[in-house]
Amino acid sequence: MCGIIGIVGAAPVAERLVESLRRLEYRGYDSAGLAGLVDGRIERRRAEGKLRNLEAVLAADPLVATVGIGHTRWATHGAPTTRNAHPHVAGRIAVVHNGIIENFAPLKAELIADGHRFESDTDTEVVAHLIDRELAKGLAPVTAFKTALDRLSGAYALVVLVAGEEGLIMGARRGSPLVVGEGEGEMYIGTDALALGPFTNRVVHLEDGDFVDIDHDGARIFDRDGEPVERPLRIVPIASALVEKGNYRHFMEKEIHDQPDACQHTLSAYIDPITSTVSSPGVDFAAIDRLQIVACGTACYAGMIGRYLFESLAGLPTDVEIASEFRYREPALGPGALCLAISQSGETADTLAALRWCKERGITTAALVNSHESTMAREVDVMFPTHAGPEIGVASTKAFTSQVAALTALAIAAARQRNRIGAGEEARLAGVLLEAPRLIADAILDDGWIAPIAQEIAKARDVLYLGRGAMYPLALEGALKLKEISYIHAEGYAAGELKHGPIALVDEATPIIVIAPSDALFEKTSSNMSEVIARGGRVVLITDAHGATHAPEGVSVVIAPHCDPLVAPLVFAVPIQVIAYQVAVLKGADVDQPRNLAKSVTVE
Ligand code: AGP
Repeated sequence: MCGIIGIVGAAPVAERLVESLRRLEYRGYDSAGLAGLVDGRIERRRAEGKLRNLEAVLAADPLVATVGIGHTRWATHGAPTTRNAHPHVAGRIAVVHNGIIENFAPLKAELIADGHRFESDTDTEVVAHLIDRELAKGLAPVTAFKTALDRLSGAYALVVLVAGEEGLIMGARRGSPLVVGEGEGEMYIGTDALALGPFTNRVVHLEDGDFVDIDHDGARIFDRDGEPVERPLRIVPIASALVEKGNYRHFMEKEIHDQPDACQHTLSAYIDPITSTVSSPGVDFAAIDRLQIVACGTACYAGMIGRYLFESLAGLPTDVEIASEFRYREPALGPGALCLAISQSGETADTLAALRWCKERGITTAALVNSHESTMAREVDVMFPTHAGPEIGVASTKAFTSQVAALTALAIAAARQRNRIGAGEEARLAGVLLEAPRLIADAILDDGWIAPIAQEIAKARDVLYLGRGAMYPLALEGALKLKEISYIHAEGYAAGELKHGPIALVDEATPIIVIAPSDALFEKTSSNMSEVIARGGRVVLITDAHGATHAPEGVSVVIAPHCDPLVAPLVFAVPIQVIAYQVAVLKGADVDQPRNLAKSVTVE
């Protein structure tokens, strides 16, 4: 999704705008641009592709301005060309936008009929023309802005410059995040606290419908009715301002290695190691009769793992649904249900829409989020945190294992609250779970098995992942990891499903990656491997040392640490992440910013 930054500065801003956009690269983009006020006039610099192309344009033609806006564009309407890159300009207005203006076509037709000429294929450009048209009627900038906003439908985070208004930047949000930052004699506005991190850790989150005008002295926020409103000032953890790769080649590699700490930090929010008790602050699972999990992508697979635990440990009927499908089937949820969203960003539009659907029907809502100030975190009844720290790589790794760790803890708490286990078993399970960070660290260190296998997989056109029980969602996650960063087609299946169709795909060119700890399901999964081998297929078995001694002849083995089934999803997540990472590196892919992908999908 697009990245936005604006600075009302006391010194030149061009380099700082680019620095901020660099912190937003993780969101995914395909063009970038700046606009600034130079002697009261709008000047623009834009480029296709990566920020280095924009920097080359700036080196050749510097932008010397103390008030400016910047944008990284993830194309929705219009190809990723310079002509379609933001900022878009009409008359005295320059605008950058994250989201989709759903009624841009009729607005564009109306404006063209009014004599406006368009230069791009984007939806965003209509916003610049709408505001400029209101300005031309003599309205004050903020009034012109609000009048234009009232014409828009869809999702937006907008930041606007006005020619001739040296000390003014305006902003507005509906459905896409936007935060205002306070500096010393300067003010900032951007997509998230990370974008403002180089300048300030004092931020104010705008709410849906808010719009704001900003000058050197501060910000004036108005709600959707145009009434002045105060939003709380938050001091964000300084860590959100300090995100660097360190000695790692990619953020994804760093974040795989961050997992022991991320898991440990997350578990500390739920487990008291002194009393060996587990809590679920804000939710009494004995008071709910059904748990509905909604999420997208990797977060949904974490939810599927959670479902095994909530049902097997706590006896709590649990459903998991892809958020983008959930509300369209009119789910039959009663007042005793709890809707739990899982989201790293806390901004995913599909998941947010599912949550709002539940809220509108009086269903209690909770969100397991890594971004504790996100829209989801602020809208739900109960926020459950993961503490993975900022995750920059588009491919989710430490956020995923932190989600699984938190869900495992919540399932233990639910089991205790629903009297399915006593204090002794609660303490035992808490102890097992607290071992997970060390086991994850062992899995990370012991990755020597993977290099030769990655060499083979990198040659494949198609790959199948198989798993049973809680390893089935891990098979789905492994396939997603591989396809999203190496662009190799991969599918995850329940191992028992192989002979119901997918086995037709088995040949010597299609690696079959089987995730199977030596647990109660190993024997059954072993027979699936034999079926594959009997048909000339190539099997890669991810198991523990005991499983390796019972593997069928001819399989390639990746050994993960032996562990209690409770934490196997956490431990076995590491080899599937490392396989995907090493294959992507071998293929020379853009590991941290895979093509077409965004870190947080804030459009439906
Ligand atoms: C996972 O590697 C992907 N980046 C993607 O599936 C992601 O998990 C999904 O878009 C959900 O994002 P969220 O957790 O921020 O809601």
